[in-house]
Amino acid sequence: MAGVQFADVRKSFGSFPVIKGVDIDIADGEFVILVGPSGCGKSTLLRMLAGLENISGGEIKIGGRVVNTLPPKDRDIAMVFQNYALYPHMTVQENMGFSLMLNKAPKAEAEKRVKYAAGILGLDKLLDRYPRQLSGGQRQRVAMGRAIVRDPEVFLFDEPLSNLDAKLRVAMRAEIKELHQRLKTTTVYVTHDQIEAMTMADKIVVMHDGVVEQIGTPLELYDKPANLFVGGFIGSPAMNMIKGRIDPENPKSFKAPDGTALPVSNPPADALGRDLVYGLRPEYILLDADGLPGEIVVIEPTGYETHLILRLGGSDLSCVFRERVSARPGETLRVAIDAAHVHLFDAESGRRLTN
Ligand SMILES: Nc1ncnc2c1ncn2[C@@H]1O[C@H](COP(=O)(O)OP(=O)(O)OP(=O)(O)O)[C@@H](O)[C@H]1O
Ligand SMILES: [Mg+2]
Repeated sequence: MAGVQFADVRKSFGSFPVIKGVDIDIADGEFVILVGPSGCGKSTLLRMLAGLENISGGEIKIGGRVVNTLPPKDRDIAMVFQNYALYPHMTVQENMGFSLMLNKAPKAEAEKRVKYAAGILGLDKLLDRYPRQLSGGQRQRVAMGRAIVRDPEVFLFDEPLSNLDAKLRVAMRAEIKELHQRLKTTTVYVTHDQIEAMTMADKIVVMHDGVVEQIGTPLELYDKPANLFVGGFIGSPAMNMIKGRIDPENPKSFKAPDGTALPVSNPPADALGRDLVYGLRPEYILLDADGLPGEIVVIEPTGYETHLILRLGGSDLSCVFRERVSARPGETLRVAIDAAHVHLFDAESGRRLTN
């Protein structure tokens, strides 16, 4: 097994920079997810690690060895692509064993490894089928099987679940995580889906426009987003963001644009008297008969929770209540804000302000 390091890695297509100096340190055995909106450079970074794209600047190391100019086949990695890229004219067994055959592995050894991978993935009974005779989830598993038989130093995944329906995606998420817990192979996984990132990763790298915005465990990113971008990207429904200021004379209250006072506890000194964004996650708005009045815009019962849009302080706020709410759109609902969980961001730089 091996760790992976990116040091000031850059990539331009022609004169157009798409990766603008990326540093990531991935420990041996870690499951790291690169997440970010479409076009931010995730696949490009993964393809550079795989050796499928050359590197314009910086250094990539696998297992302590610089691989910048090493061809893909010498990097000891296995990649699972979004479209699986299975060979249609080969059976499951042949698909999984193909790379071993290319590498001239002894037949008995190849069979043993395919059998092992098929066992792990529950493909034992499907070895003689062709890809067209498999469901989407089964094809996905064959693609993973092909990677597993190679027993690589590092697994790379590029959006491997995006062709599956929602239910299967959730099931495969757990399967891949369980597989990693079993094999403990260093894994770099790309997705644009923040829920996938939150649920699967040991460590998340949030990318935006060719740069890394923040690196941390899922809950670090959720509880302490470094900036507005990460705050808005991680979490669903998304964090509410309200522009306004805190008057230094009255530091326990944030003034929304319509003059409504929203609670703040212990704001950092540099938050006073400047343009701010008040970041409030939906679950920290609580039902409270003595609280602030808001007007219900939309109400969405999900069974387990009630999602609601509430017009308050001149903004439409997403709320998530564990309770059921029987009120209707247009009616008033009173809520309290859990001030201890409010984030304050500098409106200009987007940086989160902390004590
Ligand atoms: N071969 C190429 N030539 C020129 N530009 C490219 C090339 N490949 C990618 N790009 C550009 O580089 C940027 C990053 O692309 P990349 O495929 O890495 O994004 P991504 O984060 O994987 O997005 P998605 O979530 O849509 O897959 C995009 O602006 C894309 O248009
Ligand atoms: Mg991509």
